[in-house]
Amino acid sequence: MREEIIKLLKKENKISDETISEIKNIDINDFSTVIKELGREKTEYIKSSEIQKDLNTKFIGKELYVYKEVDSTNTVAKFLSMHDAENGTVIISEKQTNAKGRSGKSWASPLGGVWLSIILKPNVDHSRLPLITLATGVAVAKTLERIGVENPEIKWPNDIMINGKKVCGILTEAVAKLNTIENVIVGVGIDANLEIADFPEELQAGTTTIKNELGREGDENLLIRIFLEEFEKISETFYDKEYEAILKDWRKRSYTIGKIVEVREPFNTYYDAYVVGIGKEGALIVEKIDGTLEKVISGECIIKN
Ligand code: BTN
Repeated sequence: MREEIIKLLKKENKISDETISEIKNIDINDFSTVIKELGREKTEYIKSSEIQKDLNTKFIGKELYVYKEVDSTNTVAKFLSMHDAENGTVIISEKQTNAKGRSGKSWASPLGGVWLSIILKPNVDHSRLPLITLATGVAVAKTLERIGVENPEIKWPNDIMINGKKVCGILTEAVAKLNTIENVIVGVGIDANLEIADFPEELQAGTTTIKNELGREGDENLLIRIFLEEFEKISETFYDKEYEAILKDWRKRSYTIGKIVEVREPFNTYYDAYVVGIGKEGALIVEKIDGTLEKVISGECIIKN
């Protein structure tokens, strides 16, 4: 994290190379103040004032930091979550230089996308984490519906699809001490005003953007505001333990249920199966070729039909 701050400070011309060694001696708690200050500085097109102007939420986005560039909003969020950040704090960056995708993959984050992380202090045990990811997917899908995208779908566990192509990914990370989850970082990457050509060649065929689907540029600040409102609504449902309501909303938008998939679980051999549904803790329920039912808790599903 110190390296991250040094990079930010250098970028903002706030520090000379000579004083970097001094930074290395600064108390770690003072770093969070520096990070927060940087997140209140002028950015190019994502503006906290625009987002917060009409933001109709009680706790999501009340504390909001927007950066021109960070390595990963999840990393910044994780650090701030351990240093006095409120439940619902939002970290946004116009660009990320080392963004994280699922399964240790990287995530392309050029200018024009919406890259954000939300800090939650949900007081739950590990078994509920998958539901937070599913709930976030529902919030993104509802956001897309509100801005005019037809039929956004959710591919288990966390990809938002339009016309069969990925437009958004979600990376949920827990900050835990021993067995207790202290903070959950919900990272969301939405390919908003990007061109397909902005993506690495190998991803282009399976990727779309909101601009590509709607045929016009959208307002990122508005998109973020709507998403934060949808996210708060569904996190209240989660806090109220109305898990079935979240699952019902998810099932309505599922891209995966009813399809034949190749299941790729960590530390397991791949196998083909038919997707029957989703269980109450967010695991995918599949029927294997031999007719047995299996719960898929984590991993990936490659759609085969
Ligand atoms: C996936 O692989 O589908 C998940 C991608 C998650 C990307 C987002 S962008 C904002 C946040 N910061 C990160 O480093 N990753 C997440």
